[in-house]
Amino acid sequence: KKAEAWSARFSEPVSDLVKRYTASVFFDKRLALFDIQGSLAHAEMLAAQGIISAADRAEIERGMAQIRGEIEAGQFEWLLDLEDVHLNIEKRLTELVGDAGKRLHTGRSRNDQVATDIRLYMRAAIDDILALLKGLRGALTDLAEQHADTIMPGFTHLQVAQPVTFGHHLLAYVEMFGRDAERMQDTRRRVNRLPLGAAALAGTTFPIDRLRVAKTLGFDDVCHNSLDAVSDRDFAIEFTAAASVLMMHISRMSEELVTWMSPRIGFIDIADRFCTGSSIMPQKKNPDVPELARGKTGRVYGHLMGLLTLMKGQPLAYNKDNQEDKEPLFDTVDTVLDTLRIFTDMAAGITVKADNMRAAALQGYATATDLADYLVKKGLPFRDAHEAVAHAVRACDVAGCDLSEMALERLQAFSPLIGQDVFAVLTLEGSVAARDHVGGTAPKQVRKAIERVRGQLAG
Ligand code: ARG
Repeated sequence: KKAEAWSARFSEPVSDLVKRYTASVFFDKRLALFDIQGSLAHAEMLAAQGIISAADRAEIERGMAQIRGEIEAGQFEWLLDLEDVHLNIEKRLTELVGDAGKRLHTGRSRNDQVATDIRLYMRAAIDDILALLKGLRGALTDLAEQHADTIMPGFTHLQVAQPVTFGHHLLAYVEMFGRDAERMQDTRRRVNRLPLGAAALAGTTFPIDRLRVAKTLGFDDVCHNSLDAVSDRDFAIEFTAAASVLMMHISRMSEELVTWMSPRIGFIDIADRFCTGSSIMPQKKNPDVPELARGKTGRVYGHLMGLLTLMKGQPLAYNKDNQEDKEPLFDTVDTVLDTLRIFTDMAAGITVKADNMRAAALQGYATATDLADYLVKKGLPFRDAHEAVAHAVRACDVAGCDLSEMALERLQAFSPLIGQDVFAVLTLEGSVAARDHVGGTAPKQVRKAIERVRGQLAG
């Protein structure tokens, strides 16, 4: 079969290489069902406005129903020759219903069509991500509840700082993922506007009703400038930025999971189904899932940079450059969805080694700040208390013991204000329980925070 030229305007067909270079069908076919949804709303409006006949509209619907069936059954034949998802579907429609199919593109361009498809796709993707974020926050909250009283060392500079509860530590991630959900929701507001009707760039001469199409497709509003409508990809950048922050949180959590699972630390174990072995070292069990998630974060950041760079040099309005928005977007969506699913499963597969956490919290003078606070409450200015405790810690270091293991008389050498009641504040339990305010690590506060999160998740 001899290759056809684009139209009568062309004197020769494009080369096979150019065809392959410019085609997008092998990735944008993912938009097929959204493309059909958009076309049906467009046809419905064209008929309502008397731009096409009711009979044409019925034919278009019949043809599209069959095409949808063929796509869902995996029987649709995608042709590179037809460049992209839009032309493939339109060509098949015309094969099936004749002239009615040829009338579908009245008052429309692939430029506003593709922008509409991507927005429909992104809206669905965001809704999936929001549901999964809810699931992950729920799973982490369940684990936090089991460990509202489990004490571990809290770190700054990766040095033991103060004791915290493991539940409190987990809830820090629940907060992060809550902000991620907010960012996604906010992005969704700007995704959910209709470009269709902008046509190629300037609008159309037909008496279209854009608000009607917006309503049919569930958009909150139309894009109010036709040039902007076809060339705006801000929403894709915003989405990828929100996804990058989300993955950054996943990556920080991954880093902790990997560290905690190291036998040198031994705070947790991760269920075997999330780990892999070594082809040479028979003893190995590696936390591949969090490591890979940490790695995949880089690839999502890359997509953000890619999209920003894609847009920076484009004059108004549509340029073919925009076709390059899809693969980074699709890959970002796939990566985020799979990562959220696997992390939600994995949360339930974490075994906590509370004894190891406790033993680690007992090292490194985690309650030194409590001793300083104790002295302040006895009347010493904080800076002086800080200095007195620093001397005590230094003496402990030399003696090789913990603050709580020092005899009262020895402690009193650092401040005469120290009494027998000091030992209550030097315990890990006393230390965490004393941080009893909104946002504090006290088990009581952790339980309140869990209630608050559960309220959000139910809402
Ligand atoms: N495949 C194109 C894209 O993804 C559709 C729009 C093409 N429009 C055009 N005038 N070449 O952006």
